[in-house]
Amino acid sequence: MKDNERDVEIREVGLRDGLQMVRTILTSAQKLEWCARLVDAGVTDIEVTSFVPPKVVPQFADAVEVAAGALAIEGLHAAALVPNLKGAQRAFDVGLNKVHYVLSASNEHNLKNVRRSTAESVEDFVRIAGARDELGRHIVLGAGVATAFGCTIAGKVEESIVLGLVETLIEAGAREITIADTVGYANPAQVYALMRQVLTLAGPVPVACHFHDTRGLGLANVMAALDAGVRAFDASLGGLGGCPFAPNATGNINTEDTVFMLEAQGLSTGIDIDRLLAIRETIAAWLPGEPFTGAIARAGLPKTFVHPEAIAA
Ligand code: COA
Ligand code: ZN
Repeated sequence: MKDNERDVEIREVGLRDGLQMVRTILTSAQKLEWCARLVDAGVTDIEVTSFVPPKVVPQFADAVEVAAGALAIEGLHAAALVPNLKGAQRAFDVGLNKVHYVLSASNEHNLKNVRRSTAESVEDFVRIAGARDELGRHIVLGAGVATAFGCTIAGKVEESIVLGLVETLIEAGAREITIADTVGYANPAQVYALMRQVLTLAGPVPVACHFHDTRGLGLANVMAALDAGVRAFDASLGGLGGCPFAPNATGNINTEDTVFMLEAQGLSTGIDIDRLLAIRETIAAWLPGEPFTGAIARAGLPKTFVHPEAIAA
């Protein structure tokens, strides 16, 4: 299925958001096998690694090898997360043409996560966009606004702060915006209200949502964002994930369950759930003791589920 034939784009973040929390360090070969098998299952947009200092997240000491290996996988649109200019330069150097920057709407979370104020992170983004422009290469530089629906440290996050950041980041050269509920505080009404405004503000700039299922509202929030007009979502195989710099953080929305919810109501993702479940088994064996979540993995697909190929045939 071509990307433009999909109704909804699912972007896998298990190799980034998922792996930053786990105890076992996977080999680069395992990470690349995970990527290749995801592509085979129809998941073509993958955040493959994070360009952070190895002493901050040892799991990503092999970011360069993984990114280079991912670029060699046919059909894969590899992206990486970067928290600062140095990370962006490393990602640009290895040849990635999708780079996701992240800052937090909550100044307190930003200070914990990247050791600078949100305003300083905005200044860093301006420098990153400048570095991208100088390269003259086609690079989709996305900007994520974390803790957009509330913060475990600061509490309430005003909509006006998030909207102000979206406007500033787009003006500074963001080619994509991701609104993230890093700590699982969002509810569907809040998501609908904020995402309507973000989409209006972003105009032609694509907007994605990144939800965590910390309080069980992850998929309800996807529905609310869909209603608001969002068509791209981050998700994590087996629901792995969480921010190591936010207290009590837990996993992202589960990729298998999200794909099931979308496909079951006729929204195509291009993704084969059975293959996802097979990959999940492999990854779970590689990561003993990690908390994998997921209703479809537990209960199986309903007998009434119509596989997308069956519709096409
Ligand atoms: N990749 C590799 N090395 C990096 C780097 C990067 N992106 N950014 C900084 N460094 C190196 C510097 O070169 C410096 O090295 P040195 O000690 O050998 O001179 C050292 O790390 C400290 O650099 P500094 O700029 O002072 O960074 P910091 O200590 O203030 O840390 C961040 C800032 C952003 C690098 C760090 O807080 C971080 O990685 N945060 C991300 C956390 C995360 O992954 N959160 C979850 C995802 S949202
Ligand atoms: Zn996250």
